[in-house]
Amino acid sequence: MLSVLNIGKAYANRVLFSNLSFKIDARDRIALIGANGSGKTTLLDILAGEASPDSGQIFKQRNVTIGYLKQDIRPSSEKQLLQEVLSATAAINTRAHRITVIQEALSEKNGEDDHEKLLRELGVLQSAHEAAGGYDVEHEAKAILSGLGFKQEDFHRPLSDFSGGWLMRAALSRLLLVRPDMLLLDEPTNHLDIEACVWFEKYLAAYRGTVIVTSHDREFLNRVVRKVLSIEPGEVIQHRGNYDEYLIAREQELETKQSAAIRQEKEIQREMLFVDRFRFKATKARQVQSRLKHIEKIQRIALPRATKKIHFSFPEPPRSGKEAISLKHVDKSYDTHVVYRDLNLVLERDLTAPVRRLCSRYWPGYCPSNMANV
Ligand SMILES: Nc1ncnc2c1ncn2[C@@H]1O[C@H](COP(=O)(O)OP(=O)(O)OP(=O)(O)O)[C@@H](O)[C@H]1O
Ligand SMILES: [Mg+2]
Repeated sequence: MLSVLNIGKAYANRVLFSNLSFKIDARDRIALIGANGSGKTTLLDILAGEASPDSGQIFKQRNVTIGYLKQDIRPSSEKQLLQEVLSATAAINTRAHRITVIQEALSEKNGEDDHEKLLRELGVLQSAHEAAGGYDVEHEAKAILSGLGFKQEDFHRPLSDFSGGWLMRAALSRLLLVRPDMLLLDEPTNHLDIEACVWFEKYLAAYRGTVIVTSHDREFLNRVVRKVLSIEPGEVIQHRGNYDEYLIAREQELETKQSAAIRQEKEIQREMLFVDRFRFKATKARQVQSRLKHIEKIQRIALPRATKKIHFSFPEPPRSGKEAISLKHVDKSYDTHVVYRDLNLVLERDLTAPVRRLCSRYWPGYCPSNMANV
């Protein structure tokens, strides 16, 4: 479906990846993982044709359609929700419009010749429309919107009414309705609650196209993907299996490499010891030369550069009063849209005590011991 051949990309001398090659087949389920800033979005941009690699090539089969859900969604339309989602299927909409126009023309009973011609065109359009699922498109749009958590009364609200998280769900709905051959999804789960996520996973399981997805949600990845592409410092690792399987394989590979590197280091030290000892002894000159050559020939085992780990701790805050935060009769609205009405809330100092009590009662053994005090 799509092949990536020896591509490389760097920004301001920082190499994100180089000589990267992989193939994407129909129905693949691929997780693209890596630390923040490792280049996941950049690679998706390249696959979507929105950025170019510095070197290498991308080969895409003709007619393969790609849909890309971006990490940052900005509202770009003044349309209503359902209208916006339906507008994604422009070809289907144009055809639907033409069908209506022909049907109206036929009902007005024009001249005989024209009538025959219109009937033929109508037949062709109707078959194409049915094949593309055109008659069900509004029904499907509503099913997707509902699956992703929108309510019936949201369908005709303007997009400008929705928060960033809901705009992302709207963009995702638009994409799913078009059913592209390849779905590129950059952090789709960031704004989904559990219910929407469960629906989305089921949808993806039945999806007939390819899915390439980045997510920090480990369980989601485990359930959805069957291949992993991991952008690590200095290399991109490709693995068949889900995320946990990748982690296990990676750990084992690292252990094997580390033991081999230790063995290799010992071998080099042994040889060096011999060289140092007999370096000035004429009778051993030939052996010393051959040991030096041997050392030179040894292909050093490269251990992966460890990803940076950050250690930090919160400083002890000054002791607050008993009520750290209290909200009394708080209202908040955006024009006519009421977000809170008469909200009352008290957060007390050392909230951990009641939480710990609840925890030890319902989930003994899982009680966090290091919760910070408010
Ligand atoms: N247009 C650009 N110009 C310069 N640097 C860029 C550009 N786009 C991305 N970068 C840099 O390239 C690196 C990779 O960015 P990218 O957004 O691809 O990472 P990511 O893996 O998607 O990160 P995150 O997990 O935070 O989404 C970052 O250091 C970023 O600052
Ligand atoms: Mg990103």
